[in-house]
Amino acid sequence: MEVLAVLSVCLLVCLCNSASPYLRFVLKFSKDRDQLERPPTFCHGLDCPRFKVLKSVKGEYEVREYSASQWVSTNSAGIDFAEASQTNFRRLYNYISGKNSAGKKIKMTAPVIIKIIPGPGPACESNFTMSFYVVKDNPPTPTDSKVFLQGFPSFRAYVRSFGGYDMESIKPWLKEADKLRNFLNGTYSYNTDYYYTAGYDSPFKILHRHNEVWFIAE
Ligand SMILES: *[C@@H]1O[C@H](CO)[C@@H](O)[C@H](O)[C@H]1NC(C)=O
Ligand SMILES: *[C@@H]1O[C@H](CO)[C@@H](O)[C@H](O)[C@H]1NC(C)=O
Repeated sequence: MEVLAVLSVCLLVCLCNSASPYLRFVLKFSKDRDQLERPPTFCHGLDCPRFKVLKSVKGEYEVREYSASQWVSTNSAGIDFAEASQTNFRRLYNYISGKNSAGKKIKMTAPVIIKIIPGPGPACESNFTMSFYVVKDNPPTPTDSKVFLQGFPSFRAYVRSFGGYDMESIKPWLKEADKLRNFLNGTYSYNTDYYYTAGYDSPFKILHRHNEVWFIAE
């Protein structure tokens, strides 16, 4: 038995070393598949939307191709990001806690995304749409009229990832969105009317938090 195991390890090593074009193809193919089908570690075992990384510039940004996905959303207008976020979060949390046509609880997913359409000035209201990712094909209908299901077609996003836990304020998000804008600097075209924040951790997690800002390609 042991001999057999050792032999197969040797065989595997030899095969990999010889790296025939076919094998290289298979390896590359499974790598692509992994990126598409295996949830990234920062989802922490929660269901999260599928994407493929098309390009990655370390420390700067990533280009991702997201598959079509379903979300449950709600929006509110306001000057204060934290206040709008609390209102929106409560509505969506109620939806997954049973305020839906099936009266059923739904598992929390990741990330919590917020589409921000900035107001025309600092004292003007912005439009905040918060969404939770939905796994099921036929999710129950929200019973709160302010909550709605939304299908996203596949989309391409320019993504900047960063840590930090003081995410109740809009400031760190704005700072990272500025950086992303600079890194993309004229190379890519994306919609400048809005951007997304994506949070992957509960507010109680302090270390190794994962946050992202997204610009959507046009
Ligand atoms: C926010 O923008 C969405 C479009 O993204 C729109 O449907 C909605 O009515 C707006 N909500 C508010 C409160 O302005
Ligand atoms: C991009 O960066 C270069 C140099 O860093 C600058 O000259 C150029 O104006 C920038 N382009 C845009 C569109 O911001």
